[in-house]
Amino acid sequence: MFGDSFPAAVRYAGLLADAGVTRGLIGPREVPRLWERHLMNCAVLSEVVPEGVSVCDVGSGAGLPGIPLALVRPDLKITLLEPLLRRTNFLQEVVELLGLDHVTVVRGRAEEVLGTLQPVHVVTARAVAPLDRLAGWGVPLLRPYGEMLALKGDTAEEELKGARSALSKLGVIDASVLRVGEGVVDPPATVVRAEVGESPGGVRFATKRAKAARADRARRRR
Ligand SMILES: C[S@@+](CC[C@H](N)C(=O)[O-])C[C@H]1O[C@@H](n2cnc3c(N)ncnc32)[C@H](O)[C@@H]1O
Repeated sequence: MFGDSFPAAVRYAGLLADAGVTRGLIGPREVPRLWERHLMNCAVLSEVVPEGVSVCDVGSGAGLPGIPLALVRPDLKITLLEPLLRRTNFLQEVVELLGLDHVTVVRGRAEEVLGTLQPVHVVTARAVAPLDRLAGWGVPLLRPYGEMLALKGDTAEEELKGARSALSKLGVIDASVLRVGEGVVDPPATVVRAEVGESPGGVRFATKRAKAARADRARRRR
């Protein structure tokens, strides 16, 4: 799965098992299942991420799924978005230690950075919030015709059913449940894919985004 990045993946697993646990970023019970449940399960998301696009991993925590994805996909430009300082410090250290030049760490909440981050092709997320709430944070960060890929467990179909109306108000034109990592992880990972049309986040967010971008431009000029 990791190819040439395997040594870096081993290093990341070591950092999670050591500093990740002592600094309270992951539970000690996760250590024996780091590879299968965390690194592999996240890396297989790569199967559905298009070539060379920009990605924002919302609520990245200790770097999941953003870091495994970055390890297998040097062609992507990845932003790890995370509000908690303790976690962004760890993420910054990982990025530097592993030499991941194509990864940037940004501290903030998705709903607060809207308009200051460049809109992205793909938003990824795992274990951040129920789908409808996650979509409210993640979808407005997308550029037109971008997509949100949310790693979800067994509840994916049910969550999607309950969130359809919220998704459509956010400008989602197509949403489905995909299985990724067949033959690599058992069971395969479940992903909710939500593709937006021309106006990600709907009109309300488009206005908010435009206003924030104008304020940002004015700030830079001063
Ligand atoms: C349960 S952790 C999951 C972390 C990681 N994605 C994983 O799968 O291990 C949820 C993360 O989402 C972050 N988070 C919560 N609300 C957020 C928001 N509005 N915008 C961005 N991140 C958020 C939290 O700080 C936390 O690190």
